[in-house]
Amino acid sequence: MEVIVQPDAAACAKLGADAIAGLVTRHPSAVLGLATGSSPLGIYDELIARYKAGAVSFAEVTTFSLDEYVGLPREHYESYHSVIRRVFTDQIDIDPARVHGPDGEATEIAAECARYETAIRSAGGVDLQILGIGTTGHIGFNEPGSSLASRTRLKTLTPRTREDNARFFDSIDDVPMHVLTQGIGTIMDARHLLLVATGEAKADAVRELVEGAVSARWPCTIMQHHPHVTVLLDEAAAAKLDLAEYYAYTYAKKPAWQTL
Ligand code: F6R
Repeated sequence: MEVIVQPDAAACAKLGADAIAGLVTRHPSAVLGLATGSSPLGIYDELIARYKAGAVSFAEVTTFSLDEYVGLPREHYESYHSVIRRVFTDQIDIDPARVHGPDGEATEIAAECARYETAIRSAGGVDLQILGIGTTGHIGFNEPGSSLASRTRLKTLTPRTREDNARFFDSIDDVPMHVLTQGIGTIMDARHLLLVATGEAKADAVRELVEGAVSARWPCTIMQHHPHVTVLLDEAAAAKLDLAEYYAYTYAKKPAWQTL
């Protein structure tokens, strides 16, 4: 796990965009796993700017979103179907037919989850998965207690996550109770995990992610078992790490030939 602490969110976004643009340039038909929420917005803005400047093309890229609310119409402003198009894919040259997400309106939930797993596998698996982290330690919407081997399925959001996400809705009562989310096992199949976390509210979850014991209590900790993880943090999110100085030292001494 490579932990990179940057002065601010903008610097994190630039590094994240470097990793993604580099991948897409080397491998134009790359499969990207996309997160919604606030954390990846800077990365998406940076990638949109680079696309508009002619520095990168997403024409052959395929994307799979991590999750979706259950019970929101797909055209709802806050459905992740709408959000990912608005904040990212409608602003680049990706083929809209290659932008995928779980269907939160599906009536046959188990069949929809199985379909989504098959779709990811059929596309060749995810090359790079962008992740945020919840204050509860979730990745995707795998809340505490999630099986560390789980696949795409329905989950119930914790009251804390519903509070955290209430800022996107008129009232907390409007935040859906249930979601479809890629499982921990699904996420762990991606070839590169790129997690971005900023702000002091994430510091406890980040400490567990990087230095805690692996446990379903903090589902993010499973990432310690993944062979290729990049964790991009601002100073506030990194504030509770015991070994923050060592991570900074390691990054400063990183051999020039090693990319993210
Ligand atoms: C969103 C997702 C979640 C968020 C997490 C952090 O698709 O899977 O895990 O990444 O809840 O949300 P923000 O970035 O809004 O703090």
